[in-house]
Amino acid sequence: MQHFTEMAKTWDTPEKVERNIQYANEIKNFLPKDHSLKILDIGCGTGLLGGQFLNETNTLIGVDTSSGMLEVFNGKFQGLNNSKSYLMDMTKTDLPETGFDLIVSAMAFHHIKDTFPMLSILKEKLNKNGILAIIDLDEEDGTFHPDPKNMGVHHFGFSHDQNISWAKETSIELLERKIVHTVEKNEKAYPIFLAVYKK
Ligand SMILES: C[S@@+](CC[C@H](N)C(=O)[O-])C[C@H]1O[C@@H](n2cnc3c(N)ncnc32)[C@H](O)[C@@H]1O
Repeated sequence: MQHFTEMAKTWDTPEKVERNIQYANEIKNFLPKDHSLKILDIGCGTGLLGGQFLNETNTLIGVDTSSGMLEVFNGKFQGLNNSKSYLMDMTKTDLPETGFDLIVSAMAFHHIKDTFPMLSILKEKLNKNGILAIIDLDEEDGTFHPDPKNMGVHHFGFSHDQNISWAKETSIELLERKIVHTVEKNEKAYPIFLAVYKK
């Protein structure tokens, strides 16, 4: 997506890095400690979230539809922990990788038009007892993005009920759903949720 490719080189800020360290620490509470993990970051961007798991992973795979974002991802992680990226939309093209212990996604699901097919695909890619951790905007009034139509926004965040219906429809267990951060923007507060699922 052109919008993200233009922003890729200046995407990372100290605030975003700080936020993603916090998200990753929350997710680490749900991970096994006894073996190295195969990890997928979906809508990885520059790898702000996936990159926080380098001590836990033997393989970090990033998937994104923006070539600019993946250039930055590759620049950071190429050669580290078998890192690899794929430029693709997984609802349209099959990812030639499977057997993940952990799939993470931060601020990408609101850009994914058909969330249920995506969730089914991600479930298939998880190992048994694998963890899927999604970070995104709580349901909002459509003001978070200045120009949602031209920014590829398909959802104005997701409610707790929507997170529960993802679990029901995909037959995956919702372990926890909580607000982990609040983004302050234009004098408004936008809560960010973490939803953790187990296959
Ligand atoms: C708001 S950015 C978040 C990037 C990164 N996860 C982060 O938190 O910094 C959303 C990302 O999702 C990607 N994206 C949008 N639609 C996608 C899709 N269908 N499949 C994979 N990635 C997608 C965009 O290219 C962009 O890099």
